[in-house]
Amino acid sequence: MNEYRVAVVGATGAVGTRMIQMLEQSSLPIASVKFLASKRSAGKVLSFKDQDVVVEELVPESFTDIDLALFSAGGGISKKFAPEAIKRGAVVVDNTSAFRMDKDVPLVVPEVNEHDLYKHQGLIANPNCSTIQMMVALEPLRKVYGLKKIVVTTLQAVSGAGNRAIEELMTQTKDVLDKKSCKAEVLPVASDQKHYQIAFNPLPQIDVFEDDGYTHEEWKMINETKKIMGDQSLQVTATCIRVPVAIGHSESVWFELEKPGANVAKIKGILAKAPGVVLQDDPANQVYPQPIMAAGKKETFVGRIRCDQEQENAFHLYCVADNLLKGAAWNSVQIAERLHALDLLAVPKN
Ligand code: A2P
Repeated sequence: MNEYRVAVVGATGAVGTRMIQMLEQSSLPIASVKFLASKRSAGKVLSFKDQDVVVEELVPESFTDIDLALFSAGGGISKKFAPEAIKRGAVVVDNTSAFRMDKDVPLVVPEVNEHDLYKHQGLIANPNCSTIQMMVALEPLRKVYGLKKIVVTTLQAVSGAGNRAIEELMTQTKDVLDKKSCKAEVLPVASDQKHYQIAFNPLPQIDVFEDDGYTHEEWKMINETKKIMGDQSLQVTATCIRVPVAIGHSESVWFELEKPGANVAKIKGILAKAPGVVLQDDPANQVYPQPIMAAGKKETFVGRIRCDQEQENAFHLYCVADNLLKGAAWNSVQIAERLHALDLLAVPKN
């Protein structure tokens, strides 16, 4: 059996550290690991299965003798270094948005479109965190009834914006409680002109604004959904909100099914058996998904399933997942596990 030499790019980051944890727990046969980050982190010691691993500065030659490279160090780094990795024979699973919409790059949620892995040319994109959990919750229903329309509002944790954003939430929260003024430098978007307080203050901006008034995060949810589900006629709209939560994205999802015949009991029955889903839906006993319960778990938690009271064939659900795990690190490692299982963990020779 093949054993893989694995590199993690962005190993010191919020997602990278979880990629390391997911690799430790993975069934993937691993011969060696290499942890890569910026020059700032070179020499720092991380652990892998109780072994010390020294973090190295990312350079093109880092990928010599690497079979699998997991990237989560920002889109710019992926654009520059993913081709270097592939050139040297590594299969890249990229957690950034750099290549997601490229025609030749599969965008994969294993529970939904594993078959797209067969088309890879050395690079597989991991979808946006908010898109992934919505796909896990809706695909089992789409398979049975077809999907016509989705209207989603997200409540996204600050960890989606990296370690600095988590620190910003914690520091601001303490400052507000201590009745001190607080500084905002990272959220809503580090590179944008203005920064606002996130502590006790949800922000309706994730990523930069497009000319049409949608944010790029909303654009990602709309377009990635159509690509993953392989249906350009699917109607999707999204509103993405950053909330003062450290880990765990929540989503309120309204959806219209294509075929008649669904009801709440049938939907619950389908989701109770669906891969990667945990049904948490018992209003009489106040059971519903919550970020603090989803943090650290690989599954997507679904509840609050209801009929739309005005429109036939339309329903609501609420889903929560750990954005750093199912939304990023676990989905990436799961893709690697599936590539291995399907004997696809090699760059195809053209
Ligand atoms: P470093 O810790 O050395 O800055 P987060 O998403 O939590 O902000 O983490 C981003 C990750 O991307 C970190 O591991 C960070 O490393 C890494 N990173 C940022 N800039 C670079 C770079 N120029 N080269 C390599 N890795 C980088």
